[in-house]
Amino acid sequence: MTVEVKDTASAVSPKVYSGSLDRFDKFQVTPHIGLEFRGDIQLQELTDVELEDLGILVSQHGVVFLRQQNLSAETQIEIGRRLSDSGSVHIFPINPPSKPGTYDEIRYVTNEHDRSNQKTNADDWHTDITFEKFPSSYAILTIEEGPEVGGDTLWASGYAAFSTLSPSLQSYLETLHAEHDGSHFVSIAQLAGIPFRSERGGGNKGEDLVAVHPVVRTNPVTGRKALFVNQLFTKRIVELNKDESDTFLGFLFRHVEKGVEFQVRNRWTPGDVAIWDNRSTFHAAIRDFPSHIIRRGRRVLALGEKPFLDRGGTQVPQA
Ligand SMILES: [Fe+2]
Repeated sequence: MTVEVKDTASAVSPKVYSGSLDRFDKFQVTPHIGLEFRGDIQLQELTDVELEDLGILVSQHGVVFLRQQNLSAETQIEIGRRLSDSGSVHIFPINPPSKPGTYDEIRYVTNEHDRSNQKTNADDWHTDITFEKFPSSYAILTIEEGPEVGGDTLWASGYAAFSTLSPSLQSYLETLHAEHDGSHFVSIAQLAGIPFRSERGGGNKGEDLVAVHPVVRTNPVTGRKALFVNQLFTKRIVELNKDESDTFLGFLFRHVEKGVEFQVRNRWTPGDVAIWDNRSTFHAAIRDFPSHIIRRGRRVLALGEKPFLDRGGTQVPQA
């Protein structure tokens, strides 16, 4: 199998930020990842040009934090659709049937049904729904209720995870594909007695929750390359035997986990929103608060393109 490669550097034209959001006060949270708006900005009031600019900033900085948005579920879905090139948002495979006041397009994130404080999948470093052939471009998460202290979320930059590897290893990784598998959701649905969602919008149908993607992926918004394997869904590198694949993936997962210089940590206040680019970041939830405290949020995933590698893609530091 060969990696799907766009032939020339001109295959990707990075999008250019128009400056429409310059009037809002904002700051970089760390050199490699994270941009935070200090206030004033309200997602629901953004024009199409401003929202496109916001998407570009998210892709450049990995994750953007917006405080006190009080984002309604309907507006959250609408923003997900506007951020998606195809106008589509994902239906999560184990979303319970919607009832009045809930929506198929929203993944309700909560510990209400599991107060054991045991680690869950979301606590592992991951990128959302990479088992789909057309996985997520942008994720929009808002927290509605949570602990005073604790329940933070971590993100890591896929750009920096790639660019901090040695050039020889980078070149080798660019030749590889990996299999991503979310089949465990089928048994989770059975155990929980939840109807499994066959039509999710991500390109895979029914109980097919497997996709093969390049190990290094170009973000079409920035033209930058990012490491695109994650410990929740990536099961093997298809060009390697099992032992080699396990060793390589183990190394890459540890590289992301230990990469404190390209990670950012967000402390939530109810009403805050984080928007991240699932093409070039990893994230992990932290379960460090007492089990009697409820943490509740809503996530929408905008669907993106089929992952590809543009060998001419740039790795220039972000502005
Ligand atoms: Fe996630």
